[in-house]
Amino acid sequence: MEKVRVGIVGSQFAAHLHLNNYAKLRGSKMEILGIASKTEKNARETARQFNIPSVYTDYRKLLERKDIDVIDLCIPNNLHEEMVIASAEAGKHIICEKPLTGYFGEEIEGEDIGFRISKDVMLRSAMESCARIRKAIEKSRILFCYAEDWVYAPSVEKMKRIVKVSGGTIMDIRAEESHSGSHAAYSRKWKTSGGGALLRLGCHPIGAAIYLKYFEGELRDGKPIRPKYVTAEVGQHTRIPSFQREPKKWLVTLSEDVEDWSAVIITFEDNSKASIFASDGVLGGTRNTMQVYLSNAVAFANINPNNAVEVYAPDPKIFGDEYISEKLETKAGWNFASPDEDWMRGFPQELEDFIDSILKGKEPVSGLRLAEDTMEVVYASYLSAEKGQRIQLTS
Ligand SMILES: NC(=O)c1ccc[n+]([C@@H]2O[C@H](COP(=O)([O-])OP(=O)(O)OC[C@H]3O[C@@H](n4cnc5c(N)ncnc54)[C@H](O)[C@@H]3O)[C@@H](O)[C@H]2O)c1
Repeated sequence: MEKVRVGIVGSQFAAHLHLNNYAKLRGSKMEILGIASKTEKNARETARQFNIPSVYTDYRKLLERKDIDVIDLCIPNNLHEEMVIASAEAGKHIICEKPLTGYFGEEIEGEDIGFRISKDVMLRSAMESCARIRKAIEKSRILFCYAEDWVYAPSVEKMKRIVKVSGGTIMDIRAEESHSGSHAAYSRKWKTSGGGALLRLGCHPIGAAIYLKYFEGELRDGKPIRPKYVTAEVGQHTRIPSFQREPKKWLVTLSEDVEDWSAVIITFEDNSKASIFASDGVLGGTRNTMQVYLSNAVAFANINPNNAVEVYAPDPKIFGDEYISEKLETKAGWNFASPDEDWMRGFPQELEDFIDSILKGKEPVSGLRLAEDTMEVVYASYLSAEKGQRIQLTS
């Protein structure tokens, strides 16, 4: 294979993120042959904007095309399993956005399943979904690329080098993804999102913490150090009565049966710990940070915010349409302006690794095992929060 030929499913936020970050690879290592999306108007507009020759409303049309090698899934979480399995059965390599899958209770009546369904049922069901996905992938012998950008972020990549050169033990990881809330319609309900802030945001720092412990274990003993127990709490802070009475809301308050705050402690096989925070209730722009305390060194990854560029304006209008950073409430005062946010977050590096892996037939840096372990940590955390107990992981 000289060039990878991609079909993309979805035409909104994540699809645009991928299409923007494929730009430098197109023509040399890859081509984008088609886009499929339920919303035809949006798909056509995206195809025009990114110069994609074919547009479909049914993703199976991409699967039927013999000239497409890989399907890039940028669709809501509750569709991941169906489309991953169908793509694998069609013999296509897969790029899948995070999270891998989840519990969506399609067969359950009503809209508030996040409040009503036991997290025990959810954990079991999510892991059964992971098992069906693994079975289809192993049977078709295609590559599965898990779009966890944090593991490709340059600051996390630097941390790997620090772990390697120091030879120390990672004893304590403290990581967070938070912001002021998602506006995406699917994110409000368990039925389409499979969870709230913990799943949607927390899967990034959880994935990166697991990945760093895999790396340490493989370096020292030739096998990954995997997560063993979780202890967690979740909350709906936007339902605090005094907040609800406030006339001006700076936070998104649309979440229905999903949590908007979470804290998780992961205990790994070697008894080291990672503490993870994920919240939809944090002002001041997106926070993507990871602190790693080794036995002989310390490393902080400030994906956002970081002080590569600091800017000041007394009036927000001074900066006009210039991008400063994600989810910032105001451009007034001192701010951290991200010179290249996608690069800082690892998106172009992630997509290049996926395309190279497919070209060379090698496993990507972020693959199925990381996706499955992240899924189990997230759903076991929901169970821990429900029971008020530490939960042992089983896979
Ligand atoms: N890595 C990241 O930082 C990041 C950021 C945002 C979203 N995501 C992930 O990307 C995925 C998509 O999120 P989004 O924010 O782009 O959602 P979105 O709601 O903005 O877009 C979803 C797209 O899927 C399409 N779609 C829905 N049902 C379809 C179907 N049956 N067939 C074909 N197309 C269909 C819609 O038309 C839409 O274009 C989610 O899994 C999310 O977790 C990842």
